[in-house]
Amino acid sequence: MNTANYKNKEKTFKVLVLGDVGTGKTSFIRRYVSQKFFINYKATIGSDFALKVIDWDENCQIKLQLWDIAGQERFSSMTRVYYRDAVGAFVAFDVTRAATFDAVAKWKQDVDTKLILPTGLPIPAVLLANKCDQESIVRKDKVNKLCEDLGFLCSFETSAKENIGIDESIKFLLTKILETE
Ligand code: GTP
Ligand code: MG
Repeated sequence: MNTANYKNKEKTFKVLVLGDVGTGKTSFIRRYVSQKFFINYKATIGSDFALKVIDWDENCQIKLQLWDIAGQERFSSMTRVYYRDAVGAFVAFDVTRAATFDAVAKWKQDVDTKLILPTGLPIPAVLLANKCDQESIVRKDKVNKLCEDLGFLCSFETSAKENIGIDESIKFLLTKILETE
């Protein structure tokens, strides 16, 4: 019997959370990691970091590092440094602000040009239509098309405020990361 199969596995995954200013990246992470939500906006400066330990199944524990990249960092040369060694990414937009939807392509292209997996493939990425507790001004077919055109695995409607779609989107991305390992 090969006992190695029964050993507990521990994996560390670095996952990026990208998107324009005020789209809710910090709120998404905070909701997931500490079940909290704040209505007041405080801009992230540079980047921030949160860790969540997940008992994935009886054999595998995942240490998930969520990297919260400030929206204003898209215009800085630091993103290459932040992206290093990441194995997955979320790109968030705010369903109430079209400009943040238009910026999704820029974020996706930035990460895809600066970060390639050892397999030569882009890192698995998921699109987040955040603030879905509010009325969306971006049509669903436009979201689906963008998702396909840019090579996102899929999109999720999320609300950090109402705790919608957060656990699901993270679970989905982790499943894909485990598959591509
Ligand atoms: P930067 O750090 O500047 O890049 O912004 P961010 O993407 O981290 O945004 P942040 O999480 O700070 O949220 C911006 C504002 O939107 C805050 O006032 C939040 O309370 C609000 N917000 C975030 N998520 C949601 C949501 O799901 N629904 C609603 N209604 N408001 C949200
Ligand atoms: Mg922030």
